[in-house]
Amino acid sequence: MMTKPNYSISLNVNGKAYSRDVEPRMLLSDFLRYELDLTGTHVGCEHGVCGACTVLLDGVPVRSCLIFAVQVNGHEIMTVEGLASGPDDMSPLQQAFRDAHGLQCGFCTPGILMTLVPFLEENPEPSEEGIREAISGNLCRCTGYQNIVKAVKLAANME
Ligand code: FES
Ligand code: FES
Repeated sequence: MMTKPNYSISLNVNGKAYSRDVEPRMLLSDFLRYELDLTGTHVGCEHGVCGACTVLLDGVPVRSCLIFAVQVNGHEIMTVEGLASGPDDMSPLQQAFRDAHGLQCGFCTPGILMTLVPFLEENPEPSEEGIREAISGNLCRCTGYQNIVKAVKLAANME
């Protein structure tokens, strides 16, 4: 029987260095969840539509279900776990989502947060239209988006 080739990759995730051998077909989303146990990255559609799997690749939001783990060799990833060390130490954006009730089931939330982190860095005083545009690639089936927008405004000190 032929053995499947594995590739050695080294990367930095949430400030920590990791090295692993992975199959070339392993998705980054699966790598994060199953190899590193970082299950905050959610997987919804697995084909680039829902945005639930969004993480930062060298600071840029990407859909981790559309990237192979081998492609991020040598790069830096940030997942939702990188935003806070625990429930008592949430980032201002996470706290705003909590305070404004910007989530219901929470399935979409990690992807939305990781989309918004660089957005708010680049747009510290965003318009409502800008906020809605920023999260237009993240599907939420629960909230109707009203409180998500409110949470972003709260995080930007606009509420
Ligand atoms: S799981 Fe990646 S975009 Fe939906
Ligand atoms: S809070 Fe349930 S999908 Fe967004």
